[in-house]
Amino acid sequence: MTTQEIRNISRQIENKLISIRRKLHMHPELAFEEAETSRFICNYLKELGIEVTDNIAKTGVVGLIRSGYPGKTIALRADMDALPILEENNCAYASTIPGKMHACGHDVHVTCLLGAAEVLMRLKDKIKGNIKLIFQPAEEGAGGALPMIEEGILSNPSVDACIAAHVWPEVPVGKIEVKQGPIMASPDDFELIIKGKGGHGAEPHATVDPISIGCQVVNALQTIVSRRMDPLMPAVISICSFQSGSCTNVIPDIAVLKGTARTFDPAMRKKMADMIEEIAGGIIKAMGGDYELNYRYLYPPTINDSTITNMLAASAVKIVGAENVLWSEKPSMSGEDFAYFAERVPSSLFRLGCSNPAKGISASLHSPTFDVDEKCIAIGTSVLAQFALDFLNQ
Ligand code: NI
Repeated sequence: MTTQEIRNISRQIENKLISIRRKLHMHPELAFEEAETSRFICNYLKELGIEVTDNIAKTGVVGLIRSGYPGKTIALRADMDALPILEENNCAYASTIPGKMHACGHDVHVTCLLGAAEVLMRLKDKIKGNIKLIFQPAEEGAGGALPMIEEGILSNPSVDACIAAHVWPEVPVGKIEVKQGPIMASPDDFELIIKGKGGHGAEPHATVDPISIGCQVVNALQTIVSRRMDPLMPAVISICSFQSGSCTNVIPDIAVLKGTARTFDPAMRKKMADMIEEIAGGIIKAMGGDYELNYRYLYPPTINDSTITNMLAASAVKIVGAENVLWSEKPSMSGEDFAYFAERVPSSLFRLGCSNPAKGISASLHSPTFDVDEKCIAIGTSVLAQFALDFLNQ
């Protein structure tokens, strides 16, 4: 019965939601600059009669739906920021701001959460407890989740569980993909400055060549994953930048390597950081150089809670049917700061199918031609609302 109502309301508001998504898509804002997006969300929620707190971690917004009946509190989370990418799509709703684009679908996430807010407000009398609607800034890079949590968004009332959707082009529109356990990696990064001693290219014996040291380091770092890590536990180390020198006959003073180290296991995460320093440092010292390593622990791995994931799958089945709820075994090596919610309360991030190759919609996330089949919006809206209802009324 309620599922039918959710479907009906989602269908009624679908066209409005699509125009909201297009408006957001045309006006992308980068991390911690989501002022217009934030204002739009606030106004929308207020018009629905929802209690709103804004300016959390700069541009973050939290809406609170209190049913008036005692019960638990569920949080639904969307990220708001766009990427510094020049959009190459020619559609009518393409980005109007050169060099900025919603290429990771966060415009869709915001829209689905606004849609869910509207559905849940209309069904408020049938709900126990509370729903927190979390709109966070800066998922790409800096991270808005942790500062919002530090400002207290998981308390008053305290949140019992949290879910979020991410559009996923590997999954066709109409389908939902869920996964138990690790779903996104810890995307740590590092900068290694190799300090040698420069000199004339004709007199290498009078120098400490940071380029030849750097070459040894790059190769040796590849043995961490291949020789030192359990082959059944995924990990990756990539050196993505190697810069040094400027001409054909001068050995430079320094070389700078930059890279990323990713895994799903907290112990391996620490071990990789230690080994990078141990191996790189050992080689550099042995070859007469010195170094500075700036290692940044970024987001933790995102680990889905099994109970919440099972409940989420059951809610999704009500919306799209059992044949359209896929169970994945495969996590992604990308990072997601939803991880900070998942560290604190039982959580689950699900993949919202959004591609439609028959319509030419299949580009990957972060691509300048990324787009979604907008049919995914009503589905995302309905799954978020259905799960909130099921969780609160269990
Ligand atoms: Ni994203």
